[in-house]
Amino acid sequence: MSKPASQKLSAARARHTELSQQLHRHNSLYHALDRPEISDADYDRLLQELLELERQFPELITADSPSQRIGSTPLDNFPSATHASPMLSLENAFGADDLRDFDARLKRFLAREEEIAYLCEMKLDGVAVALTYEQGKLIRGATRGDGSRGEEITQNLRTLSSIPLRLQGEHPERLEVRGEVYMELEAFRQLNEQRREEGETTFANPRNVTAGSLRQLDSRLTASRPLTISCYGIGAISGAEPATHFELLQALRSWGLRTNLETVRVANDIEQVIARYHELLELRDRLPFEIDGMVVKVNSRALQQELGEKSRTPRWAIACKFPPRQEQTVLESVRFQVGRTGAITPVANLTPVNVSGVTVSSASLHNWDEIERLGIRIGDRVVVERAGDVIPDIVKVLTEQRSGSEAKIPEPSECPACGSPVARAEGEVVPRCQGMSCPAKLKEALKHFCSRTAMDIDGLGDRLIDQLLRLELVKSVADLYRLQKEDLFQFDRMGERLAEKLLAAIEQSKTRSLERFLYALGIRHVGNHLAKVLSRQYGSLEALEAASLDELQATHEVGPQVAQSVVRFFADANNRSILAQLQELGVVPVTTAQPRGDKLQGKVFVFTGALERFSRKEGEALVEAQGGRASGSVSKKTDYVVAGPGAGSKLAKAGQLGIAVLDEEGFLQLVQQLEAE
Ligand code: IVH
Repeated sequence: MSKPASQKLSAARARHTELSQQLHRHNSLYHALDRPEISDADYDRLLQELLELERQFPELITADSPSQRIGSTPLDNFPSATHASPMLSLENAFGADDLRDFDARLKRFLAREEEIAYLCEMKLDGVAVALTYEQGKLIRGATRGDGSRGEEITQNLRTLSSIPLRLQGEHPERLEVRGEVYMELEAFRQLNEQRREEGETTFANPRNVTAGSLRQLDSRLTASRPLTISCYGIGAISGAEPATHFELLQALRSWGLRTNLETVRVANDIEQVIARYHELLELRDRLPFEIDGMVVKVNSRALQQELGEKSRTPRWAIACKFPPRQEQTVLESVRFQVGRTGAITPVANLTPVNVSGVTVSSASLHNWDEIERLGIRIGDRVVVERAGDVIPDIVKVLTEQRSGSEAKIPEPSECPACGSPVARAEGEVVPRCQGMSCPAKLKEALKHFCSRTAMDIDGLGDRLIDQLLRLELVKSVADLYRLQKEDLFQFDRMGERLAEKLLAAIEQSKTRSLERFLYALGIRHVGNHLAKVLSRQYGSLEALEAASLDELQATHEVGPQVAQSVVRFFADANNRSILAQLQELGVVPVTTAQPRGDKLQGKVFVFTGALERFSRKEGEALVEAQGGRASGSVSKKTDYVVAGPGAGSKLAKAGQLGIAVLDEEGFLQLVQQLEAE
């Protein structure tokens, strides 16, 4: 018997609170205090657990959940940007009762009986940004980040044609405007379609692509993505302020900023707000973009000011969320997918059903714990839910509708792709194929090897890899480097030029960095970040191969699991043979490692301002090459602050704390001097 839903939810909530507290603590230890107590990998594990809880129980997601910060803490490569006033988030309401409570609360706070006029706006499901205009010129664009500071992504935001580079009309001298960047559904569908054709992985939902597109270091990529903005508020304004929020939106529009004025309504009391909520619920499925609720704001700016804000949310606004889109359908059968590591995951084949405009015919079942949790059987009537994602979730089984002919979902005893035996290790939620030459594993391994973040072999996507395998042209990643033009001509739609391009791309990949190469090998538990750590520490494939378990474990950020996995990888005769073949074929990963030393052992550097002589990454690499460490924030532990033009608060803090400040030239001299010694 499974526990009642409410009990599961409260257990999940308790764990969620605990995880949140831990993550918040570790996060501030790392970012604010520069004093981490756990490794990145351990942090990641906590975060993954939290994410999994939130996936199962979306109601646990709060505006201040650590999950909401993923990808929005400032990256090394984007300078950080302080907002004119904090970018707040909104409290959530879930329907008429919550809205009436909200209204009553405000009237109490204001000691007022008169009705309050509200503005009803759509809640766009995208990424919040702040745009700063001075003298009408766009001078800065930033992400929300932690609310006080975000990442400066001006170059990327400039590529959005809906963001004016100059304001129009009688605009204020200075303005920080806020809005939501998003991608329309049709554009999203087309993008995914194109990627599917090119054999690239597809995106889960428009919000993810938007966030990813905005955080590209190469703004040309951002430019190629059809993103749009809609502005809904301000952080600062000079001169006279409009009297109502509605007038503010009108003013924004008059200055050339995009708003959703057409769908905005002024409601004279909370009942009109509720009526508008129902209208928007109806409208939602006919909109060209995703909205996940309605935002209700007190219209009078004077009243807004009187109401003020709590720590992270304004008192004068609330987000009334929409219920998730659910439909019923039948679980017809279950198919099994084999991943790169041999993990066999169950996927539900559903009777196709239309869930508010999107035909849903399959859903991930994730693993056998999930199957157990749902108590699901083949033939069951189920409730599917689409939360803005393309792949929906099965949220409930309608057991009361069972006929008795439903069948249990078997755990495969052999690999569906190669027939090899499978094994489920203790503590794991999926079985894994044990076959040495499983074609499904090979396919996934090849896809991973060629992918953009790994060896980045342009043009070698899903479709071509499929053909390479079908024609048995490739039996391991080494075979990629043995391909000849004639081989490729056996493919559909392969001309001379395309074949040459492909071979050139393969050739080019021979000199990728060691870090990419290590990641491409698909060593278990070695993701992007650990590949970088290992590459920096060992500097060459040979050195890594020679490292003992103890040595590996002694490496900062490398835990026992990773160390073991690396050792096991190099111990495997098959892997060793492939590595030798790769080397023979001229695949020689390049190390960018500087001559290693320990002259800066224990020294902590902070880079700030616009660096002109070298990139932040290069500066950090120079420091790390001599055993030093780069940090994002200035504290008593900082030894040097390297300041480029435009350095602000970090430079000031260095002054207060009496920390040595170097300009770029001074820093380079210091490093050169050390290396020469
Ligand atoms: S107002 C102080 N209006 O929802 C007011 N937000 O947690 C803060 N959003 O981060 C936001 N549409 O990214 C506002 N019409 C709208 C919005 C909106 C989407 C997002 C925004 C914010 C989040 C609220």
